[in-house]
Amino acid sequence: MSYQTILLEQQDGVATITLNRPDVLNAQNNPMRLELVDAFSRLRGDGAVRVIVVTGAGERAFSAGADIREFLEPPVPTRFREERKRLDYRGEMDRCPQPIIAAIRGYALGGGLELALACDIRIAADDAQLGLTEITLGIIPGGGGTQRLPRLVGRGKALEMILTGARIPAAEALRLGLVERVVAVGELMPAAQALARSIADKAPIALRYAKEAVVSGLGLPLADGLRLENDLSTLLRTTEDRVEGARAFIEKRKPKWSGR
Ligand code: COA
Repeated sequence: MSYQTILLEQQDGVATITLNRPDVLNAQNNPMRLELVDAFSRLRGDGAVRVIVVTGAGERAFSAGADIREFLEPPVPTRFREERKRLDYRGEMDRCPQPIIAAIRGYALGGGLELALACDIRIAADDAQLGLTEITLGIIPGGGGTQRLPRLVGRGKALEMILTGARIPAAEALRLGLVERVVAVGELMPAAQALARSIADKAPIALRYAKEAVVSGLGLPLADGLRLENDLSTLLRTTEDRVEGARAFIEKRKPKWSGR
């Protein structure tokens, strides 16, 4: 599939997806959703891809959310429901075993913030503005926002944001735990790529199991989560890379991971 609305690059174990409709602040239309479904489903099956970075083209936005022009056509309910399933790229993201990093510059609004919330780690430029603005259009978030936001920032702050549609500046987003790091605009992509590379450098199976333990564990009672962690860490004791990691430490050299 050749893409019209996104860019996909791959280098040294890091895949970068760039939303590429800068003229409309990277608003998400159905062709973009379909391309994101294709890209994430392709990347999650690619063993050479260790980390995925998601960002927006241009200087103004990560993404200003759903393409509002698509709202003007009244949808047929059953067709709309089926189409949403077909275009559910966030479901594909949830199935990605690789860590996904959002690099957010400018606006991340509505579905744009929901895309960032579906990522594992968020880095923002100091010009970022984040919000779930759907309420101002007479709708509510439908791409995971009402569920993922309160899990990050708590019930009160999430409701305040969702009920008012307020835009939160980067510094406040950092304070709330909505993003992990804020950097100068010019530092955004270098910081995201450096983080991605430092993760991609680690043992491949350990990376996947670490993400699985944390993400799956969050949906489990503590005792079950601890059991999952124990199972995954026990399995990792059987890998060749675990011997290589110990050997490299003792021989004072960089490990050469085989992914086995
Ligand atoms: N869908 C479609 N087009 C969008 C868009 C969206 N979500 N967000 C921005 N655009 C378009 C604008 O229509 C404009 O296109 P034009 O140049 O053809 O008129 C272009 O992107 C630039 O946006 P503009 O509104 O002129 O920039 P601004 O600096 O005045 O305002 C925002 C920026 C982000 C505050 C404003 O565009 C906005 O509120 N967008 C909608 C955000 C939103 O509510 N998203 C959630 C959807 S559920």
